Amino acid sequence: MSDDPTAATTGSDDAFRIRPARREDLAAIRDIYNHYVRTSTVTFDEEETELAVWEHKHEVLSATGLPFLTAEAAGGAVLGFAYAQHWRAKSAYRFSAENTIYLRPEAAGRGLGAALLQELLDASAEAGLREIIAVIEPTAAAASIALHRRFGFVDAGHLRNVGVKFGRSLDVVFLQRTL
Ligand SMILES: CC(C)(COP(=O)(O)OP(=O)(O)OC[C@H]1O[C@@H](n2cnc3c(N)ncnc32)[C@H](O)[C@@H]1OP(=O)(O)O)[C@@H](O)C(=O)NCCC(=O)NCCS
Repeated sequence: MSDDPTAATTGSDDAFRIRPARREDLAAIRDIYNHYVRTSTVTFDEEETELAVWEHKHEVLSATGLPFLTAEAAGGAVLGFAYAQHWRAKSAYRFSAENTIYLRPEAAGRGLGAALLQELLDASAEAGLREIIAVIEPTAAAASIALHRRFGFVDAGHLRNVGVKFGRSLDVVFLQRTL
């Protein structure tokens, strides 16, 4: 994928572009993600992530040719990110990936998630992926479920009580889309 940004807008004051994530974005990406680690069950991580985790992920995705995208505001601030990583390490899973998408809280609810997911699906197809799987905690991530359904993801399973965070038992649902 080229480094050419995709210019887009959600409104007159909301210009953003979507482009491949760069190493210098990773601290902001970590901070966006860690906000949800601390405050929400949308992620099952309970400890804040270190920058090294993101550097490693960026390196692995770059090396395997899988997409890791940043949504950037006109002024350069990172508004959100999305990536697709192999669903499982075993080689027969090589055409299947799990997608991840997170926006800065103040950037949610304005259509940016849709733009980022569309770019991610396009880039995933370009990378040769065939199946994309979203793994979603259904109580906190209703917006994510609605967004993925809008993009043609269909129900592919529901695991009950597989997580525990903030003293609550949590389910996950699987949504899947063929590219
Ligand atoms: C999930 C996320 C990427 C969606 O992006 P977004 O730009 O906010 O998405 P949109 O504004 O297009 O909203 C998507 C849909 O969710 C709906 N929605 C928004 N908030 C909602 C809520 N709290 N409950 C139910 N539906 C909600 C919207 O009405 C919209 O529905 P539609 O497609 O029928 O119009 C973004 O909200 C986000 O980053 N959330 C926090 C992190 C997260 O949950 N990541 C996903 C982990 S699986």
